[in-house]
Amino acid sequence: MSNVKFKVQPGGTIKGRIRVPGDKSISHRSIMLGAIAEGTTTVTGFLEGADALATLQAFKDMGVQIEGPNDGNVTIKGVGLRGLKKPEKPMDMGNSGTSTRLLAGILAGQNFDCELIGDASLSKRPMKRVTDPLAEMGAKIETAEGGTLPMKIFGEGNTLKSIDYILPMASAQVKSCVLLAGLYADGQVCATEPAPTRDHTERMLNGFGYEVKSEKLDKQRMKACLQGGGKLTGRHIDVPSDISSAAFFMAAAAVSKGSDLVIEHVGMNPTRVGIIDILKLMGANIELENFHEVGGEPVADVHIRYAPLKGIHIPENLVALAIDEFPVLFVVAASAEGQTVLTGAEELRVKESDRIQVMADALIAIGVDAQPTPDGMVINGGVQKPQNAEIQSHHDHRISMAMTIAGLNAVSEIVIDDCANVNTSFPIFVDLINQVGMQVEVI
Ligand code: S3P
Repeated sequence: MSNVKFKVQPGGTIKGRIRVPGDKSISHRSIMLGAIAEGTTTVTGFLEGADALATLQAFKDMGVQIEGPNDGNVTIKGVGLRGLKKPEKPMDMGNSGTSTRLLAGILAGQNFDCELIGDASLSKRPMKRVTDPLAEMGAKIETAEGGTLPMKIFGEGNTLKSIDYILPMASAQVKSCVLLAGLYADGQVCATEPAPTRDHTERMLNGFGYEVKSEKLDKQRMKACLQGGGKLTGRHIDVPSDISSAAFFMAAAAVSKGSDLVIEHVGMNPTRVGIIDILKLMGANIELENFHEVGGEPVADVHIRYAPLKGIHIPENLVALAIDEFPVLFVVAASAEGQTVLTGAEELRVKESDRIQVMADALIAIGVDAQPTPDGMVINGGVQKPQNAEIQSHHDHRISMAMTIAGLNAVSEIVIDDCANVNTSFPIFVDLINQVGMQVEVI
């Protein structure tokens, strides 16, 4: 892909009524569960971004008939739990951690060998977190030294063993991997997480007629269990707009004077709404309107108007619920009056990039007082020195988009290098941000 740069003019007021594309996590799962279900699954609002398309292509490679995506519509002819076929070549997961880690769970239960590969960023990300529990379940998997891609999965065709797995970190991808492998287990499989993470896998499995029992063990820990050997039944899935994409627009309206924006039909799953709670704690004026439910997921229109913001210590219990939103929350903190402190977020160091270091470097480069810490960041907001800067996205879509939003209160032009990655989750980002009042040129 040729190098795409964003040239961002400082300033702007954010106004309008928009809809952002479909939820990435739900789009991935709609293909995965639709493919291993019996009968047909139809999807509307599917995210046509490179990550979800990598998942779609992988299932085509394994012989599943999939029509679309066509304007967000996809039809999947499910082959059942045992109907996937050996792919002819290694399956390319691109930049997508979700594709890789969830698919690893499904592939561990197959009776064929296969290999997963990915791009430069994905090939550095830790996979031991999924290969460890899968090995405990009896799967045979090889990775590169250091536990990274390429990953070879030797499908023994044997049923996997049951497991009661305690996750060492709050990760929906690891939890989902264990539960999906559990579909192929000879008994009960449970995953206990140290703090609640997104529960789309549990909700959607239940929606496909496969019972998952979730229970709260104490204030933070959640345990999800299922019995292997059941079946999923195809269904219709209406994918809500992605709150993680909406977050860039919420942040934009929150930090620019005079803004007034409505973002329609945004997914409001309680395990995803940390961004709204954190923005409200900082003083943002956010109203949720038109609350309703689509296919088991709550949705609402998010109405956000400018209000002065203050720095806060972000409560650690909100970290997992806003895990993908920190790049743009750091940008918000830079505009807030006073100090914002984030702790307990070391997982940010193993995302598409090291989001603590990369964002600290980027903010410092545009004149913000930001100090990275091992598990978070300290940002003294409100004052920004004029400073022209060229920022590196480090193969990370959310860095490209967060640093675009930083343009709103920047004093000088910002150029962001290597932004084609925005296509992984939000292909129409630049069109929409220009439509609501920023000036971003793609060069
Ligand atoms: C995701 C889980 C999260 C998140 C990612 C999507 C999912 O990753 O960051 O963008 O769909 O399950 P972790 O499980 O690594 O926290």
